[in-house]
Amino acid sequence: MARTDFSGRVALLTGAGGGIGRSLARMLGGLGFELALVGRSEEKLRAAAEYAGRAQRALLLPGDLMERGFLEGVVDRVLERFGRLDALINNAGICFSKPLEETGYGELDAMMKTNVLAPYILCRDAIASLRESDCATIVNIGSVVSHAGYVGQSAYGAAKHALLGMTKALAAEVYQQGIRVHILCPGAVNTGMARIISRPGMDMDALISPEDIADVTEFLLTHRGNAVIDEVRLHRAGKQPF
Ligand SMILES: NC(=O)c1ccc[n+]([C@@H]2O[C@H](COP(=O)([O-])OP(=O)(O)OC[C@H]3O[C@@H](n4cnc5c(N)ncnc54)[C@H](OP(=O)(O)O)[C@@H]3O)[C@@H](O)[C@H]2O)c1
Repeated sequence: MARTDFSGRVALLTGAGGGIGRSLARMLGGLGFELALVGRSEEKLRAAAEYAGRAQRALLLPGDLMERGFLEGVVDRVLERFGRLDALINNAGICFSKPLEETGYGELDAMMKTNVLAPYILCRDAIASLRESDCATIVNIGSVVSHAGYVGQSAYGAAKHALLGMTKALAAEVYQQGIRVHILCPGAVNTGMARIISRPGMDMDALISPEDIADVTEFLLTHRGNAVIDEVRLHRAGKQPF
């Protein structure tokens, strides 16, 4: 039986002000979760909280996940405010397209810190609280690039492959503790990021909608049968999975 009411439960969502993040925030608010929203822009977080119907109650945590001091304080701040944590959605991410030969040290560092290190640390810091939850779920937002290698995307691909590997290992580590860990790997989604990815053959008129990502994430949160869904790969019907 699918659970549909998460009143009194708490979800931590990163990248909440972005294209996919706003839809995720709205879906989580609709399920009844209290929200803790992370992103660089406070203004975008406020707009996301409003969009999610949580304008008054959401905890806004504006900050840079690349900064260790901020990153390692996030879960503590959620617990200080709400006293519990039930769902973690690691959605914040960056992407750029550039030949490996031209990729700077700082660019690679930012890619790995945002897309791998931050979700890793948030998972680590969330586990103790999730263990106490009756609906403990982690969803990491990967990409089709978690599996494929595209010209100009060695840095993004390295990061998303790493996120996939980390997710698989963690899912096995904490399954017996009642914590479900998933990765969702979409092809191009209709957000600002898709417009800067520009992979060869990408059809800008046929992108996945952010609401599709929210719908699948909702399914992962609400269905907790014995069939474990560790990974979901999404691409446009009739299209190659890029
Ligand atoms: N769009 C696609 O085609 C696509 C496809 C597959 C997977 N994905 C993945 O989906 C996720 C969301 O992407 P999106 O398309 O919604 O992109 P987006 O609109 O650019 O949103 C990215 C979000 O991440 C936040 N963020 C980035 N760096 C951060 C940092 N250092 N500290 C805190 N927050 C940070 C941004 O904050 P600000 O709002 O403050 O800038 C923004 O809210 C990413 O992990 C991406 O890799 C996207």
